[in-house]
Amino acid sequence: MPTNENVRIAPADGKLGVLIPGIGAVSTTFMAGVEAVKRGLGIPVGSLTQLATVRLGKRTEARTPMIKDFVPLAGLEDLVFAGWDIFEDSAYQAATNAKVLEPSLLEQVREPLEKIKPMKAVFDHEYIKRIDGPNVKQGGTKMDKAQMLMDDIREFQQSTGVARTIMIWCASTEVFHRPSQVHQTLKDFECGLMKDDPEIAPSQIYAYAALKMGVPFANGAPNLTTDTPALLELAREKNLPVCGKDFKTGQTFMKTLLAPGFKARMLGMHGWFSTNILGNRDGEVLEDPGSFKSKEETKLSVLDQILQPKLYPQLYGDLYHAVRINYYPPRGDQKEGWDNIDIFGWLGYPMQIKVDFLCRDSILAAPLVLDLVLFLDLAQRAGMRGIQEWLSFYFKAPMHAPGLYPEHDIFIQLMKLKNTLRWMKGEDLITHLGLEYYD
Ligand SMILES: NC(=O)c1ccc[n+]([C@@H]2O[C@H](COP(=O)([O-])OP(=O)(O)OC[C@H]3O[C@@H](n4cnc5c(N)ncnc54)[C@H](O)[C@@H]3O)[C@@H](O)[C@H]2O)c1
Repeated sequence: MPTNENVRIAPADGKLGVLIPGIGAVSTTFMAGVEAVKRGLGIPVGSLTQLATVRLGKRTEARTPMIKDFVPLAGLEDLVFAGWDIFEDSAYQAATNAKVLEPSLLEQVREPLEKIKPMKAVFDHEYIKRIDGPNVKQGGTKMDKAQMLMDDIREFQQSTGVARTIMIWCASTEVFHRPSQVHQTLKDFECGLMKDDPEIAPSQIYAYAALKMGVPFANGAPNLTTDTPALLELAREKNLPVCGKDFKTGQTFMKTLLAPGFKARMLGMHGWFSTNILGNRDGEVLEDPGSFKSKEETKLSVLDQILQPKLYPQLYGDLYHAVRINYYPPRGDQKEGWDNIDIFGWLGYPMQIKVDFLCRDSILAAPLVLDLVLFLDLAQRAGMRGIQEWLSFYFKAPMHAPGLYPEHDIFIQLMKLKNTLRWMKGEDLITHLGLEYYD
């Protein structure tokens, strides 16, 4: 088998620590799910690392190993969890409150979940308006808070003996901010931490602490976090991979399935109206216009990038795209998302498509958390640093190099992901040209 001289992947020996800011619906569904799968109580549906295969070589070779057998990934039994939250509830209590999983299932994984007690959070009410909790670090500058988080990470690593650690942000969506002066260089950022610069968000303090401690960072929410020159400079300096932003589940997932299809057939579009009702804590936080603005930005950018109205002005030049989210407590985590899509065909004749997706947000997000943890760990062991564009598959607003547009088409994203795995292992990349079969 050919080998890629450029990539050496260190083995996945030892335990993998998973540190999670935000012990809420998504993270507890992820952790409870991993514990359930380990006990044979469920199947990790939705996870590529656990269920997907990757085709290698020519179609005639019939080589399609499982991804987890093809690249060396940490096993589920190697994951050790810990996290931070502004509430003191254990992961068991938080999962019970979130009401995503059945009490009878939670009971069977109660023991490991009860042991996960959130560490005191770094929290700033200016960044998350609708909630407040008691389990928060007090006093000191933002730099002192970063040091406290580094102490937490050190203590976790020492007490558990993990060989490697990953951090993944599963906390609430922070208020929308653009990068400012303090985010331009690492030096500016560190000065800002010492001076308590108001433009530095809590998620950035976590990310800074993680990267300083040699821990790769993934961002499951739409907030800026590592998507700033300063923190990317730190990631590169420390040779660490990072990825984000905003897990691609629910409505945006549907958008990235449907929109590439319309464009592939050169069907036009006048409008796409999306509305949602959801009643979990995420929904409550998103009632705040500042947090909603962060979400709206990531949700809106998707169609524009996929449809490329500048290249196809006749088809998409006057597209009207709107996204609404309404907090509606009776539904809990069981969101309902409606899409009305006004498309047009031959000679401009209009048609409509209605999508009503009764989805379960955290059920869709949990496997993404698992895959991101395992792939980010793989990337680190393969010596990959900075933005991991091949993980765009998982995000609504994929981070990308300056000057590049992000790739939103989920099928291109999947090809990029699998080709990256092939590249890591020195296998031929698959272009789907296939002329050789007809020679
Ligand atoms: N579920 C999905 O499909 C999905 C998709 C994309 C993005 N997301 C994002 O993932 C995140 C988690 O979603 P969720 O449904 O679990 O929300 P949730 O409200 O159930 O959990 C978030 C938790 O974060 C905690 N928190 C807030 N600020 C914190 C801080 N500074 N430090 C530590 N903890 C803090 C909250 O107390 C809460 O327990 C949200 O930002 C959400 O927008 C979710």
